[in-house]
Amino acid sequence: MKHNIIFLNNKAMEETDVLDMHAAIEDVKNAYILNHKQDVINPGKCVLRWGKTVDDENVLGRINAMPGYIGGEYDMAGIKWIGSGPMNYKKGLPRASVTVILNDPETKLPVCVADGTAISTVRTGASGGVAIELLAKSNAEVITICGAGAQAHTQLEAALICRPTLKKVNVYDIIPANADRFISLSKNKYPDILFNNTNNVEAAVRESDIIDCVTLATTPFIKGNWLKKGALIMNMSDYEVDNDCVELADKVVVDFWESIKHRMISTVALMWKDGLFKDEDLHAELGEILIGTKRHRESDDEIIYFNAVGAGILDIAVAARCYQRARRENIGITVPFWE
Ligand SMILES: NC(=O)c1ccc[n+]([C@@H]2O[C@H](COP(=O)([O-])OP(=O)(O)OC[C@H]3O[C@@H](n4cnc5c(N)ncnc54)[C@H](O)[C@@H]3O)[C@@H](O)[C@H]2O)c1
Repeated sequence: MKHNIIFLNNKAMEETDVLDMHAAIEDVKNAYILNHKQDVINPGKCVLRWGKTVDDENVLGRINAMPGYIGGEYDMAGIKWIGSGPMNYKKGLPRASVTVILNDPETKLPVCVADGTAISTVRTGASGGVAIELLAKSNAEVITICGAGAQAHTQLEAALICRPTLKKVNVYDIIPANADRFISLSKNKYPDILFNNTNNVEAAVRESDIIDCVTLATTPFIKGNWLKKGALIMNMSDYEVDNDCVELADKVVVDFWESIKHRMISTVALMWKDGLFKDEDLHAELGEILIGTKRHRESDDEIIYFNAVGAGILDIAVAARCYQRARRENIGITVPFWE
């Protein structure tokens, strides 16, 4: 019995156009929609956590297994296996490293092993972009990005695609040098945008139409009473914003509610655990808004809280598109899996 798989390293992934944000936004939208059409299998994350608490995890690290199947034009199964080494920066290594395995949904055989590191940042940026498209004010001009790491680049790219009205970007990082590095790279890419490295989060949030949090915070540093009317507060990672950001919101929107409750690290999840937020308080998942059963932003005054936990089906959608292109154009290395 012989069986080959395709191996796609980071360079091969670039050749498949993994960094195409417009395509990733379409993939992510499709994944949200297929989720609500029940054309996915989305069993949630399994967290291989070092230590006992989230605080331990943010020092010692974790590896998350995120399996899934996505139907529609993708028709692909697989798993995202993402290592997070928070102390990797001391060795000059990125925090996140991602391996994606794709499996034929019929035979269940593996067909591809790929570096999914770029997929992960691109699809997370795309998720943020979809949230901005549906939930931010149509004329949003100021965004504050908290956390100037790997995700910040794709959050910004997608934000500028989905809200081309943006003119000013405040950047806050607990390590100001990270914000400096992020800004000097971004200035070259977006010369018409005004960038501001700030350590005054309150002032930055108070003037922002969009606040996009991609940090490793485990203690909230953003207060709800700083949010101006019409703000979209995006809790893209863990415990970054206080309960008031949820309580004062006119709408609470998420990507995958059951997964958020299962992961149990974001503000709205912790509030749900403490009985401060109920299932019926949730306005919508993004997919419900995309298929039209729930409303997007309805006025310029609404404050909207958004939380994303992510799911393997988002990565598998992007990976499946890249894999199909690799097959068509002979990109990557064919490896004998069974000889
Ligand atoms: N929602 C999703 O689907 C999804 C997907 C991928 C990553 N994430 C999350 O996004 C976050 C960022 O990921 P990354 O790959 O960019 O990480 P990274 O390590 O590359 O960057 C994180 C940045 O946040 C800064 N930071 C840490 N704590 C902070 C604090 N309290 N206040 C301000 N800045 C702080 C760090 O200095 C660093 O510059 C992680 O928590 C990750 O789990 C979410």
